[in-house]
Amino acid sequence: MRIPLVAGNWKMNKGPGAARAFAQDVLRWVTDSSTKVKAKEYPELAVFPSFTALPAVADVLRGTAIAYGGQNCHWEPSGAFTGETAPGFLAELGCRYVLVGHSERRTLFGETDETCRKKVLAALAAGLEPLLCCGETLPERESNLTFTVIERQLRSTLVGLPSAASFTIAYEPVWAIGTGRTATPPQAGEVHAFIRPWLSRNLSPEVAERTRLLYGGSVKPDNVVELLRQPDVDGALIGGASLEVASFCAIANAATSYLTGLI
Ligand code: PGA
Repeated sequence: MRIPLVAGNWKMNKGPGAARAFAQDVLRWVTDSSTKVKAKEYPELAVFPSFTALPAVADVLRGTAIAYGGQNCHWEPSGAFTGETAPGFLAELGCRYVLVGHSERRTLFGETDETCRKKVLAALAAGLEPLLCCGETLPERESNLTFTVIERQLRSTLVGLPSAASFTIAYEPVWAIGTGRTATPPQAGEVHAFIRPWLSRNLSPEVAERTRLLYGGSVKPDNVVELLRQPDVDGALIGGASLEVASFCAIANAATSYLTGLI
């Protein structure tokens, strides 16, 4: 069974002090709750702080059940790339994940399918699990191009990866990010139901079976369960609602209640 992942993308929020306090609060919450539920009924939690806050988060969360990762990386291991961060530096801090191809990176910072592929390969080589984001814009959806865009983003980035490569995909419709306009569960479900067989045909049935497909875009405590009910939704990538400990933990709580069959 795929363990659901509840991941918080903090974007350019929280410096080291606020990030450390958040990590301590969430760790306390997880430690308290884990006495009440069995490990298998628990989603995996992960946070994605800014680079400067990562060491503080690593201080608190290294070796715990809560994972953390970088929001971006470069594809070279070192060199003259001012302002960039190598995947190996993230691995050295104990990161498990790195986001690749978030729509804000694509639209605001010129990230392309080609750079995403290089980053995915470099992240894997450094022992990180890439969390690849894909998703269509509103004009693309309205022109019936949703599946064409997703297929292009996945094909150019993932085809030909080694069969043992472990990665996660987040479907994040661009029109749902930070807008309060969540995709309806059927809208999310139909894209996820497209991605899994696509992985099976283009990588392998084993990869399709084990790869987690997250939904992202205005996920909140009160809509996460309906999204998780979709057969191919294995968790959520959360922006705004991951910035407060209370709402991040409420989302994790809702996922736990869903997994224990309580709701
Ligand atoms: P949001 O962001 O939850 O604020 O819509 C999601 C994301 O950008 O990953």
